[in-house]
Amino acid sequence: MPRHIAFIMDGNGRWAQKRLLPRSAGHEAGIGNLRKIADKCFELGIGVVSIYAFSTENWKRPKDEVDKLFSLLKRFFLKELKRMKENGIRLSVMGDLSAFPADAREATERALAETAQNTARVLNIGLNYGGRAEILNAAKKMIEAGEREITEETFSKYLYTADLPDPDLLVRTCEKRLSNFMLWQCAYTEIYFSDTPWPSFGERALMKALAEYAGRQRKFGGLKGN
Ligand code: FPP
Repeated sequence: MPRHIAFIMDGNGRWAQKRLLPRSAGHEAGIGNLRKIADKCFELGIGVVSIYAFSTENWKRPKDEVDKLFSLLKRFFLKELKRMKENGIRLSVMGDLSAFPADAREATERALAETAQNTARVLNIGLNYGGRAEILNAAKKMIEAGEREITEETFSKYLYTADLPDPDLLVRTCEKRLSNFMLWQCAYTEIYFSDTPWPSFGERALMKALAEYAGRQRKFGGLKGN
């Protein structure tokens, strides 16, 4: 079982289009599925679940869609906060919240503060996140801090994921690329691609991904068995 699983939840729009629904219905269905899949992962003993919710490039979408995504995000945090507290889930965020609409930012910050003491599980969300920007930001912070020992370990401490293990498994639905997601952290991550759009990527699909992961040989650049 992975310690850390990451998801790039793609295909919400295509899922909706196929059903002659507006794209927003795809995002709503995507969030419903996120709840189910994250719950299942935690139930299976996976400690960290990372998801890509909003990339630095997603601002290019029509304003209506961006507004809808932020309103869904706000609703998600307001609705999920109680359950996160009950289930010992800590929220972690990768990305720059400063550009967010105030209400979405406040809901996110509240969820961050109110779950900060939880230790059992982590839901780590990429929000206004880009992997290259994260690496540049970490380099700037490292210089500002006057870090003298420049190693992979010290550098990792300046990333958003300083206190998290690297993902063991990354699942991407619909497309076969990384799209600027956790570029540093995914150096040795196993990647699983599925053609199923995110809203339809259910428990069975998750179990299939986990079974394939369990059968993979992880070598981290060494030889088999090392
Ligand atoms: C990909 O589908 C999905 C997104 C870009 C957004 C995912 C975000 C949410 C579901 C809402 C906010 C998140 C949380 C955590 C509450 P797409 O729109 O790119 O689909 P398409 O490629 O088929 O058009």
